[in-house]
Amino acid sequence: MTTLTIQPSGKTVEVTEGMTLLEAILAAGENLMHKCGGNAQCGSCHIFLQAGKKGVSRPAAPEHSKLDTIVGVGSKSRLACQSKVLGTEDITVELLSFV
Ligand code: FES
Repeated sequence: MTTLTIQPSGKTVEVTEGMTLLEAILAAGENLMHKCGGNAQCGSCHIFLQAGKKGVSRPAAPEHSKLDTIVGVGSKSRLACQSKVLGTEDITVELLSFV
């Protein structure tokens, strides 16, 4: 099991290998938009991966393509729907569109 910390709330949850960060964040009861249903099409699930980069799958081409179109993207940007928990390292994410 991996511990996922969600900022800015500071909530921590245990997550299972193979889950996407979107699934884990929603299961934790946090709000995160996901307009395209997790298909790397909308960019609304954009988050910052603050810690645990090695604990999350590497971005594939569709994620890179979508991130290239989003304003405010930085080196820690990921699409939560495309980021899978690997179970190798604890993870901290920062939600950008919390409501
Ligand atoms: S939910 Fe649309 S890109 Fe992730």
